[in-house]
Parts: sequence; structure tokens; C-alpha cells
Amino acid sequence: MKPSIPLKPNLTIISKKGIFYWVDEQQKIKKYRPWLGDLFCFIYDSSMARSVFPKKFGGDIERHYEILRMQMQATHDKRILELGTGTGNAAYFLPRDNEYTGIDTSAGLLRKAQKRFRENGFQIADLYLASADDLPFADDQFNVLLCHLSLNFFPDIHSVLTEIQRVMQSGAPMYFSIPVPEREGSKSKIHGTLYTEEQYKTILNEHSMNFESLPDRNGNLLYFKASI
Ligand SMILES: C[S@@+](CC[C@H](N)C(=O)[O-])C[C@H]1O[C@@H](n2cnc3c(N)ncnc32)[C@H](O)[C@@H]1O
Repeated sequence: MKPSIPLKPNLTIISKKGIFYWVDEQQKIKKYRPWLGDLFCFIYDSSMARSVFPKKFGGDIERHYEILRMQMQATHDKRILELGTGTGNAAYFLPRDNEYTGIDTSAGLLRKAQKRFRENGFQIADLYLASADDLPFADDQFNVLLCHLSLNFFPDIHSVLTEIQRVMQSGAPMYFSIPVPEREGSKSKIHGTLYTEEQYKTILNEHSMNFESLPDRNGNLLYFKASI
């Protein structure tokens, strides 16, 4: 199995059971500390529906996917990159005639995602074990970016935005959803680094990206769009 997307020069990728892994100079697979251990991968979807959405986001998971389906309904024949693929829920809201590439630091979640994209009829859904702040792809490869419910987990948002600028084509739309502390709804602590809407706008502008807040409301989630 070969990657559909050109990779950075001098980089070795191997495919194991249909998932791509990055091999370092010592010929060892690059490992990441996954956010979720492999055992928790099996309860990820039910815990999002039963606990995270109602308790942490004060929101509705069905509404979330409806919002994302509306955003994506006119997106066809694009080269999509998703940061933080998780269990592959993009397969539910993305038209299947797109070429999908997803990265995540959890191999267990990627294995679930692989099954989901296959079951939903995607012809191209390449999955990589990789971190959002160090992407294996060559420059200017993608024309749509997705990043849902993941920005708060990335170790350094500035490195991630630098990588986004490198691999995305100019003018490509980029869609994000993320909990923000100033919106009502959170009854329990949300993990990772949280920024306000105003802070996201400032950070994106520092990276010469446009920031457009979208009007959809769902608990404490902020839906926003960006472009370079
Ligand atoms: C809350 S989940 C969201 C998953 C999916 N986007 C969704 O909406 O269901 C956050 C995801 O970010 C991934 N993640 C955490 N740190 C990461 C990193 N440095 N690079 C890429 N993915 C990361 C986790 O493994 C997890 O799949």
C-alpha cells in the first residue's frame, strides 16, 4: 500500500495493516504518547455521547454532527486533511467522493477509524500515526482542513499552525470546533489548553490566517473557519 499524498523528502513511511507509520533514522517506528490508551479506544464513542458532550460541552452530539454535515455538504473531490482523526467520525459527515488523509497519535483510534471509513464507502482514506506539530507530508498538498475537538490537546498550537501553513494550499478552507471557556455549558474540567475565541483570533492572525467565527451554537463549543 502506497501513500496517496507526496511526503516530505528523505522520510520513510511503512504501512502495517493499512495504517502508515513514520520510521526514524534507526529504522524504528516513531512512537507518540497517545492521549487515550488502546483499551479506552473501545469506549471513546460512547463516552463522547454519554459523558463528554452533555457534561463537558453542555452540548448535543447529534447537533454537532448535523452542523459539520451542513458545513461539508458542498465539499466534493477535495484533498482533505484532518488533524486528530479519532475514531473516524468524519466518515459520517464528509461526502465520500473526497480524498481523505487523517493523522492521530493514537494507533488504537486509527484502527477504529480505518474500519469506519471502509464501512462508509471511502475509496481513499489514508491514516497516519503522526503528531499535528510534525506532519509527514510535502508542502502545499491539501485543499480542505478539518480539526474537530482536538486543538486543546496539541502540545504547541504555534507549531501546529506552522505545519498547517506549510501543507495547506493558499485559500484552502479550514474548519475547527473547540470548547471555549467563556461559553456556558461546562460542568466538569476540560483537558488540555483552552483559549478564548478572542485568543484564537489573535493567534491565527499572528500566523497570517483569517479567522471567521461561525454562528452555530452548541453548548460551549466554538465553530470557526480559517484560511491562509
Ligand atoms: C477529543 S478527540 C477528537 C477526535 C475526533 N476529531 C472527533 O471529533 O471525534 C482528540 C483527538 O486528538 C488526538 N491527538 C491528541 N494529541 C494529538 C497530537 N499531538 N497530534 C495529533 N492528534 C492528537 C487524540 O488522539 C484524539 O483522537
